[in-house]
Amino acid sequence: MERTLVLIKPDGVRRGLIGNVISRFESAGLKVCAIKMLVPSKELVSRHYADNEDWLRSVGSKAKKSSEAKGIVLKESEIELGQKVRSRLIKYLSSGPVICMAIEGNESIFAVRKIVGSTEPKSADPSSIRGSLSTDSYGLADSSDRPIKNIIHASEDYATASAEIKLWFSESELIEYKRADEEIVY
Ligand code: CDP
Ligand code: MG
Repeated sequence: MERTLVLIKPDGVRRGLIGNVISRFESAGLKVCAIKMLVPSKELVSRHYADNEDWLRSVGSKAKKSSEAKGIVLKESEIELGQKVRSRLIKYLSSGPVICMAIEGNESIFAVRKIVGSTEPKSADPSSIRGSLSTDSYGLADSSDRPIKNIIHASEDYATASAEIKLWFSESELIEYKRADEEIVY
């Protein structure tokens, strides 16, 4: 069984979506093995969204592609755009309450990302959390100088999930228990 990190971002918490979000993971047979609420410090968020070139480039390329699709050519490089998004994220995530969870289950990293949906709510699958609970877009977020409000963060791969769980939780906060339906689900 695999573990992944999920954050319900301040927009999700303040919109009263905590229960809705958690129930989607639980209904899929995924188990919450750690959970807490906090207003994270800027320092914690800046370690979470680390100053990593590959990630900055990938985040910047999402903004660039969406602008180009509308015929707007951005002059900044992907890395520069990524840095802009990163500083918006640090300010935003540390601005209010966040629910932080470790979720366990069969291939939970992939399963959770599928239930969460792709980054931009406007174009995310309509049955996903992001696609069904928001319509926010790159264009609107960029013109308001804020990150996309897409309710959730979910780890991208195994290495990131392990590092993110270590960043947000101590070993003693990760609880091992059996769910009553585990033998039926698996
Ligand atoms: O969260 P996800 O893994 O889907 O996307 P990411 O590329 O790792 O970006 C992290 C977060 O940055 C996203 O969830 C958005 O909130 C925000 N973002 C943004 O506001 N504008 C972009 N061009 C790219 C990302
Ligand atoms: Mg990501």
